[in-house]
Amino acid sequence: MKAICWQGVNKLSTENVPDPELRNEQDVILKVRYSTTCGSDLHLVGGYIPAMEAGDVLGHEFLGEVVEVGSGVRKHKVGDRVVVSSFIGCGRCWYCANDLWSLCDNGNTNPGIGSALFGYEPGGVFGYSHALGGYRGSHAEYVRVPFADHGAFPVPDGVDDRSALFASDALPTGWMGADLGGVRPGDVVAVWGCGAVGQMAARAAMLLGAERVISIDRYPERLAMTERHVGSETIDYTATDVGAELRERTGGRGPDVCIEAVGMEAHSPGVEYAYDQVKQQLRLQSDRPTAVREAIYACRKGGTVFVLGVFGGVVDKFPLGAVMNKGLTLRGAQQHGQRYIPMLLDRIAAGEISTRHLITHELPLEEGARGYEMFKQKQEGCVRAVFDPALAAPGTTS
Ligand SMILES: NC(=O)c1ccc[n+]([C@@H]2O[C@H](COP(=O)([O-])OP(=O)(O)OC[C@H]3O[C@@H](n4cnc5c(N)ncnc54)[C@H](O)[C@@H]3O)[C@@H](O)[C@H]2O)c1
Ligand SMILES: [Zn+2]
Ligand SMILES: [Zn+2]
Repeated sequence: MKAICWQGVNKLSTENVPDPELRNEQDVILKVRYSTTCGSDLHLVGGYIPAMEAGDVLGHEFLGEVVEVGSGVRKHKVGDRVVVSSFIGCGRCWYCANDLWSLCDNGNTNPGIGSALFGYEPGGVFGYSHALGGYRGSHAEYVRVPFADHGAFPVPDGVDDRSALFASDALPTGWMGADLGGVRPGDVVAVWGCGAVGQMAARAAMLLGAERVISIDRYPERLAMTERHVGSETIDYTATDVGAELRERTGGRGPDVCIEAVGMEAHSPGVEYAYDQVKQQLRLQSDRPTAVREAIYACRKGGTVFVLGVFGGVVDKFPLGAVMNKGLTLRGAQQHGQRYIPMLLDRIAAGEISTRHLITHELPLEEGARGYEMFKQKQEGCVRAVFDPALAAPGTTS
């Protein structure tokens, strides 16, 4: 089958790889209908996440049709249309039982690699390096889904494929930021990043009762998309001082909840960008925490900062003094999709959440490298490039 493979830093190619097979009784094999690029993949493509090997198949946010079912699977049958959580949870360990699915003790079959690299044992996720399980990803014609009774969810008839796709990762991630960030009715919430994750976090904050939601980015098309489809106010961080602007809009107090949906490759117009970039390139720090710093300084005293953006290791110039003296709650997590996906599919069906607009480009698997380049550089207004394995390669007919 065809699949988009990582071949080294900033090198991708579409290759023929062996079809997946059932390996455990709780597996299903899915014929992929759509699989989307995600900001998390950029950290892999750029070489910021270690333990990738040439030939690894990318992709973790997907939906498809069940074509084979393991003998232990109870909830799915051949022909079902399902969306799958990007993080893999066994459904039985202490963490899964406590709804902390991305922390599952059994989802990552290689926990020692993460432990040696990062000092902790990360969970397992599709297509996300050998440190996070070494699973083949979903940018392929077929994908093996372990623990399918727990991680795969039927898509309601009223929800089309393109909308349901984002219930895999971007939407539950955003929802989790607002939910575990403790958004309450009447709150003012600020969200850094107008990618798919940030847009979904902003929408979730609204649905959880926030009185005002303010989204921050620099790309005019992303800011306009967020205003139109999410309904939040926006700030272009290149045009103003974000901290001052947030104080201005909140009567001097600052937002109650600040959600960071940017991650380790944050951009900044200020001098600190050069500082962070040099240290990151020299591997003196693994991550650029610009937006986290800004969120900590902007948040009101006693408020909460929730980090949705992915960070791998250590950062420099972290304002611990502000966290402590301002009485902040600082949280973060990889997404606990299994906890939210059915509820979110119902909300999409009810028209409360729009996701389909996030797809700006649909491409065949053969255009993996081009799709990622466009997504990375935010060219042609790209918010999410989505791969459809049924599309014909350029220059051919299907
Ligand atoms: N926690 C999880 O489980 C989880 C799941 C999915 C994605 N993520 C992470 O969420 C982050 C966002 O993902 P995405 O798919 O939306 O990515 P994306 O690349 O599409 O969006 C990131 C956005 O952040 C903006 N940005 C950069 N620097 C900024 C700054 N200083 N202030 C404000 N905005 C800034 C960029 O312009 C861009 O629009 C990534 O780090 C990704 O790894 C986490
Ligand atoms: Zn993702
Ligand atoms: Zn588990």
